[in-house]
Amino acid sequence: MLDLLIKNIKHLATPVGNFPKSGKEHGKILEIENAAIAIENGIISYVGSMENAPACKNFIDASENLVTPGLVDSHTHLVFGGWRQHEMELKLNNVPYLDILKAGDGILSTVSKTREATFMELYIKALIIAKDMLSHGTTSFEIKSGYGLDLDTEVKQLNVIKRLQKSFNEDIVATFMGAHAVPNEYKGKNEEYIDFVIEKVLPHVKENNLAEFCDIFCETGVFDVDLSEKLLKAARKLGFKLKIHADEINPIGGGELAGKLGTHSAEHLIAATDEGIKLMADSGTVAILLPATSFYLDKPYARARKMLDENMSVAIASDFNPGSSPSFNLQFCMNLACLKYKLTPQEALTAVTLNAAAAILKEKEIGSLEVGKKADIVIWDCPDLNFLFYRYGNNQAKHVIKKGVLQ
Ligand code: NIG
Ligand code: FE
Repeated sequence: MLDLLIKNIKHLATPVGNFPKSGKEHGKILEIENAAIAIENGIISYVGSMENAPACKNFIDASENLVTPGLVDSHTHLVFGGWRQHEMELKLNNVPYLDILKAGDGILSTVSKTREATFMELYIKALIIAKDMLSHGTTSFEIKSGYGLDLDTEVKQLNVIKRLQKSFNEDIVATFMGAHAVPNEYKGKNEEYIDFVIEKVLPHVKENNLAEFCDIFCETGVFDVDLSEKLLKAARKLGFKLKIHADEINPIGGGELAGKLGTHSAEHLIAATDEGIKLMADSGTVAILLPATSFYLDKPYARARKMLDENMSVAIASDFNPGSSPSFNLQFCMNLACLKYKLTPQEALTAVTLNAAAAILKEKEIGSLEVGKKADIVIWDCPDLNFLFYRYGNNQAKHVIKKGVLQ
């Protein structure tokens, strides 16, 4: 028996397939007028024209609405203590992001707050935000650790993520990012800190199955290319899938390393070089671009069009964190993707659904409206796809459905 029929859909838009789209394929999505979607046991059982739709007495009429897959946020730092509103004054005085970190503030001030916070404080704070994300259409997301930088606090953060995975009906993917900054205890001893992470933290995270991916901040004054390579190789040996924060501020070789190692994704890439883009395209690395971070740090926007021209797969995410991107609103990132990256609405939709799902290895289950995939669906307060990308700042999600359940 059918659970729910979404009927008379004015405009249905979805990428199609179980694999990330690259290059020109980003823009080739399925768009149907007067469509329907049927849901059975949380899974999509019909997508197509209204004419051929099965009957069901439970229905939602979407005759004035755009319907798309649920949004997937493939890069967040959702679990953290405190906020960083005191940095506003520094920003207004043009103090650069990396200088704030160098002075022991920035990420390190969030580390202090996260160490101080109890498990329950972190969990409740993250849960409230996750619910807000859901109401904005984000039905699945990734969360990185990296505000502990010691064994206990990294494990505390990862356990919060685990609890969120259990208690929340979302698909949540955990990334271990113990190499997010050098903690004060290891100031000036970057290699010793990486060795500590490799020897003491990574094996514990693996044994307790606390994360699927391992990530590192490859950046001037944080971890250089050699240390990034050392950590990522050790993580791969233990069975982690790899991610890298690369070329966010300075092009020190992070994109090139991602290509050389064939990391699953490379994230930020604001300053990625031509060579880095070529190598990543060859290795099939997914580019996760974070336009809200460019906006908030007042930095250039990543060269998304160049990446598509080189046949890369591009995903777009919020980078939600208390420093460089204090907003989880993926809809705003979609506006920026069109206005700043110059992606078409079709390309940008693929980047926040199917390709974002692929960026966290979930493309077989979510990311498109197709029979057999989870019924993660957004019914928008919009008549068509252009409208969704044209208005900004307000929450345009009207109804959000996660695994077949209306939220
Ligand atoms: O992706 N760049 C490193 N990590 C985050 C920022 C974290 C923070 O400032 O708290 C990012 O931008
Ligand atoms: Fe980040």
